[in-house]
Amino acid sequence: MTVTSPLRTLGIIGAGRLGRVIAALAADAGYRVLIARSGDPAPIIRAMSAIGAEAVPVSEVVAQADAVVLALPLGSYLTLPVEQLRGMLVIDAMNYWWGADGIRPDLDDPRTSTSEIVQHHLTGARVVKGLGHMGYHDLEDEARSAGSPGRRAIAIAGDEPDDLRIVARLVDDLGFDPVVAGPLASGIMLEPGAEAFGANVDAAELREMLERFPTSQRGRVVARARGTARP
Ligand SMILES: NC(=O)c1ccc[n+]([C@@H]2O[C@H](COP(=O)([O-])OP(=O)(O)OC[C@H]3O[C@@H](n4cnc5c(N)ncnc54)[C@H](OP(=O)(O)O)[C@@H]3O)[C@@H](O)[C@H]2O)c1
Repeated sequence: MTVTSPLRTLGIIGAGRLGRVIAALAADAGYRVLIARSGDPAPIIRAMSAIGAEAVPVSEVVAQADAVVLALPLGSYLTLPVEQLRGMLVIDAMNYWWGADGIRPDLDDPRTSTSEIVQHHLTGARVVKGLGHMGYHDLEDEARSAGSPGRRAIAIAGDEPDDLRIVARLVDDLGFDPVVAGPLASGIMLEPGAEAFGANVDAAELREMLERFPTSQRGRVVARARGTARP
């Protein structure tokens, strides 16, 4: 595959199941990939090198990357370096998962998508939700070059059209058809509880799922909470 994105160096914070798959796909696509875990990168240097990525501290990821993917547990978002991330494009692949994050009503409020919470914390960063609704196994198994029949799709949500264009190109480079869900608030349609969460489908089917969201059970809960429910 050939990189078509203006991004050259992709940073990833979180070197677990999801972070490693994204790292491998990005390295295969020709990106320079920097990846960080929570602490000392030394124990993962060899494993990351084997998939074409460089394991470095979080501060180096942020200092050197053109854009940063968040692939750490959402419950740890307050540890992200706000000042360093100011002005940067940040791709939020995190979801609230009580098994990993504990019971956190603050991360489970239907009035606010979790990416808006992350954006609120990361003042001055440009947050786009993406790469978080598909399971890591599916991401690993389903990457295909553009135009392949049955190519799977990944939805993204963000407020800035230019940032959505950049992230869409990244998604395409990683091997998936990008589908724009809408502004950052619509990222709630990609979260646990929504039909698109876990979806491993093509672009047409993913768009249909997003269109059905307002009439789904979760969609009605969100609309009531946001005061946008139709009478
Ligand atoms: N697994 C999936 O299929 C999947 C799919 C879509 C979205 N997601 C989302 O992606 C995120 C990661 O999930 P995962 O399954 O990959 O988790 P995981 O396997 O448990 O890996 C988490 C990674 O994040 C690192 N980390 C934890 N706290 C950190 C911090 N404060 N700063 C930097 N790195 C930190 C961990 O580092 P250490 O090794 O040092 O602990 C580890 O490398 C979650 O928000 C999840 O909801 C997961």
